Amino acid sequence: MMKKPLLTAAAALLLSTTTLSFADDVEDAIEYRQSIFKAIKYHFGPMAGMIRGKIDYDPAAFTLHAERVAELAKMPGDGFIPGSDKGDTEAKASIWDNKGEFDEHLAALAENTSALLDVSKTGDLDQIKPAFGEVGKTCKGCHDEFREE
Ligand code: HEC
Repeated sequence: MMKKPLLTAAAALLLSTTTLSFADDVEDAIEYRQSIFKAIKYHFGPMAGMIRGKIDYDPAAFTLHAERVAELAKMPGDGFIPGSDKGDTEAKASIWDNKGEFDEHLAALAENTSALLDVSKTGDLDQIKPAFGEVGKTCKGCHDEFREE
């Protein structure tokens, strides 16, 4: 007599756990990529300050920030898993319809941050400025297209 409702309850529990773990994956992926972008910003800011002359240019500090950004630039792509267009995110759903183009923006980010790291080691701001500008354009190019205002 009790058997049927119990089974139903068990089945319902199983179902809700499955749904929950998928939602968790999506939430984790969103948090992951946002954290990576925050970390990128953390290192990008001081470089921008030095480029604009708001902070004294410190070659060693600049190169360290450039190194961090070049490493971090390889990471956000892992967080754009299928289904993670929905949730607490500013990522546009069009990312998943244009994955090839989005991935090109990611590749450009990795390439241009790596070029900035190389040139940062010269300590020559005349060379560093344009390389930094390219990275800035790469951020903006992707945000304009794939990030909600
Ligand atoms: C390939 C595309 C792409 C590139 C390149 C890119 N971003 Fe983003 N960025 C995004 C997307 C999409 C989001 C929204 C992520 C979300 O909310 O899930 C985002 C979010 C952010 C955020 C907000 C994070 C938060 O939630 O607090 C910051 C800050 C940020 N990006 C900085 C940068 C900087 C700085 C660069 C360049 C060095 C950069 N991004 C390059 C696509 C990109």
